[in-house]
Amino acid sequence: MGDLEGIRSRLGYLELLGIDALWLTPFYTSPMADHGYDVADPRDVDPVFGDLEAFDQLLADAHEHGLRVTIDLVPNHTSSEHEWFRAAVDSAAGSPERARYHFRPGRGPDGEEPPNNWTSVFGGPAWTRVPNADGTGGEWYLHLFSPEQPDLDWANPEVWADLEKTLRFWLDRGVDGFRIDVAHGMSKADGLPDARRLDVDLLRNAEDDPRFDQDGVHEIHRRIRAVLDEYPDRMAVGEVWVGDDERFARYVRADELHLGFNFRLVRAGFDAAEIRGAIEHALAAVAAVPAPPTWTLSNHDVSRPVTRYGGGELGTVRARALTLVELALPGVVYLYNGEELGLPDVDLPDAVLQDPVWERSGHTERGRDGCRVPVPWEDGGPGYGFTGGDPWLPMPPEYGRLTVADQLEDTGSTLSLVRRAIELRKTHDGFRGGDLEWFGAPEGCLAFRRAGTTLVCALNTSAEPVPLPPGELLLSSGPLAGDMLPPDTACWLE
Ligand code: NOJ
Repeated sequence: MGDLEGIRSRLGYLELLGIDALWLTPFYTSPMADHGYDVADPRDVDPVFGDLEAFDQLLADAHEHGLRVTIDLVPNHTSSEHEWFRAAVDSAAGSPERARYHFRPGRGPDGEEPPNNWTSVFGGPAWTRVPNADGTGGEWYLHLFSPEQPDLDWANPEVWADLEKTLRFWLDRGVDGFRIDVAHGMSKADGLPDARRLDVDLLRNAEDDPRFDQDGVHEIHRRIRAVLDEYPDRMAVGEVWVGDDERFARYVRADELHLGFNFRLVRAGFDAAEIRGAIEHALAAVAAVPAPPTWTLSNHDVSRPVTRYGGGELGTVRARALTLVELALPGVVYLYNGEELGLPDVDLPDAVLQDPVWERSGHTERGRDGCRVPVPWEDGGPGYGFTGGDPWLPMPPEYGRLTVADQLEDTGSTLSLVRRAIELRKTHDGFRGGDLEWFGAPEGCLAFRRAGTTLVCALNTSAEPVPLPPGELLLSSGPLAGDMLPPDTACWLE
């Protein structure tokens, strides 16, 4: 399954990669209905991953390697196995136990219809009905994700009191910060009115959505920030699926989150105009606050870049190019494990799929398992050094060509490129400064530098080679053709 001890055993590799910090997805007690994002006890470690002592050791060793450790915080919902929810189901309508969640009577005859028309992000209605003690149909509860993830009612002061306890529990243990799950969730439109639009786009919300990005959420972020500020050098980054720049900016105000993931680069295709647009929007969103921009090309919820950009050799060279663009940008960059190896998504057989999306969508959406297949460390299937047994998702034969061990030895590998790029990003003066200057570039290309520096990043997404801008080559994502920048290639020039 992968566990805390396993991460601890690979800290040397992470240090070599050159990263500054880790974000661990949830390792808390959980029935694992949604990859641990259904938390039954936020202040303990699930036995699958280890125990609190293993966590403390990981934290101490990571700090010795110069790596900070941030952990996931899931304030929008709990597991249906959380003691609060079990008590709520066992209690009567109108009880204080139910008041920690959103329980409502149904509509229509005998309350057979859900209380409103909201849909779950994973597909199907966002409401599930519980039976009364006598077996008749009772109230419905709200779950914006799977039915095993009931939404907490943030109007209830007990909910904040418990989150504060969780924050302090981990801060006192020494964690460096939190990644806040569904940071644009938590607060719902007053009265839970019907949504005007019913289309669901996985993990994305439209504007004007009563389920997400409600003004009340900012008070919650201010409270979280106030707790963090009591501890030196701690931070929070939010998962903020909010498209509008001005509304996005509100999450990273001085007394709210330190950072917010901007997902525009994830959504942009391999097209210079789209990529430039994504960068400009992400910069504009934080410029006025000001806050640092936070870039991401992949995570455990989205298709890996190699696959997104076309798969195979084409996808690989394009993903390498985008990595150089991303690592040239000001602010904070998050890499998802395996991105540094150029891993593609895995086309998994139906029988092994675990993401609730697969069932909830009536087998029309395969879900996110394909991007969650473990990292291959060294040759030798089926576990490639990740496990001596069978990994929790099968690792395909092509992962044998992408192992960490092989790529460390190969100066032309994606891993070597990413290590070199991170090293230059940390040491070269061309990466100082927060403002970007764009240069004129041929159709399908872009070029920029940080204002006041001499390092230019150029990308060619067109089908034709283009002349390189003047300068001395520092790094390129693939071979150049004399003084031409080939298609699907990026480079850094001094
Ligand atoms: C966002 C997480 O990244 C995703 O994996 C999870 O399914 C949902 N939030 C619900 O917690």
